[in-house]
Amino acid sequence: MSLPGKARALAEVLRAFAGHPWVFAKLLRQLPRVLRGFTFAEGWEPAGPPARGDTGLDSSTAADPENPLVAFLRKRETGRGIWKWMHYLDVYHRHLRKFVGKEVHVLEVGIHSGGSLEMWRDYFGPKCHLYGVDIEPACACYENDHTKVFVGSQADRGLWQTIRQRVPALDVLIDDGGHETEQQIVTIEEMLPHLRLGGVYVCEDIHGEYNGFSAYVQGLVANLHAMLSGYEPDVKPAPIQSYIGSVHIYPYLTVVEKVDSPVSRLVSARRGTEWQPFG
Ligand SMILES: C[S@@+](CC[C@H](N)C(=O)[O-])C[C@H]1O[C@@H](n2cnc3c(N)ncnc32)[C@H](O)[C@@H]1O
Repeated sequence: MSLPGKARALAEVLRAFAGHPWVFAKLLRQLPRVLRGFTFAEGWEPAGPPARGDTGLDSSTAADPENPLVAFLRKRETGRGIWKWMHYLDVYHRHLRKFVGKEVHVLEVGIHSGGSLEMWRDYFGPKCHLYGVDIEPACACYENDHTKVFVGSQADRGLWQTIRQRVPALDVLIDDGGHETEQQIVTIEEMLPHLRLGGVYVCEDIHGEYNGFSAYVQGLVANLHAMLSGYEPDVKPAPIQSYIGSVHIYPYLTVVEKVDSPVSRLVSARRGTEWQPFG
């Protein structure tokens, strides 16, 4: 990094923490653990059975050999282009299969050559309402009876405001757009609240171990573990704990799932009558 680049990075950090010295101190305390996890992961040794050498297109290596996304992509030798990491197919099917055949509202950021919109339509079925967002005006040509296209930048909060006014609450959002940190952050901040209960948010192509969006997600995850009033067996959850059921981190991919209905209490239960005297 150049000297002006370093100065800018430092100024950004100082600006972010001005007024939050305790947050800064707490995060600094976590850094050695972050480093420890980082080093552990970096030094990971292969063990056990050989890795399932993977193109993702071979249904014999797919987690579910019946995954229709695998079949769809295997057949796609000509026609509108689709551009995906193949290991995503298992992940999509794991989190999205519950919507197949239902009336669902699905938005994908990043249309490119239109093939992935066709894939989602094929996967979710004829009751699916699709929305595509792309910065390239040429992508408007992919609009049809069941697909609405919005042209604009995902980094523009005004675009999301318009989309929220024109589109019902979404069941699924897939961010496969510009892949820049700020774009990904603006998109999740503007649209995660617009996801229905039970909805699934997918952000693709989070590349690099110092990725900015990855850091953002770690902040979000930390709040899922918050205990606002210390350890008690019956806790009123923080708002985010009421609405976010889980966050899943995969290679290059993050999936956030909303709960089916808001959680009002987190209860630690002891069941049974036989207990060891300790603890
Ligand atoms: C990786 S391609 C999308 C691939 C497509 N989803 C597929 O699976 O075949 C990324 C797309 O994001 C679009 N894009 C880039 N920056 C964007 C931005 N700021 N807002 C919205 N779309 C953007 C590009 O024009 C491009 O079409």
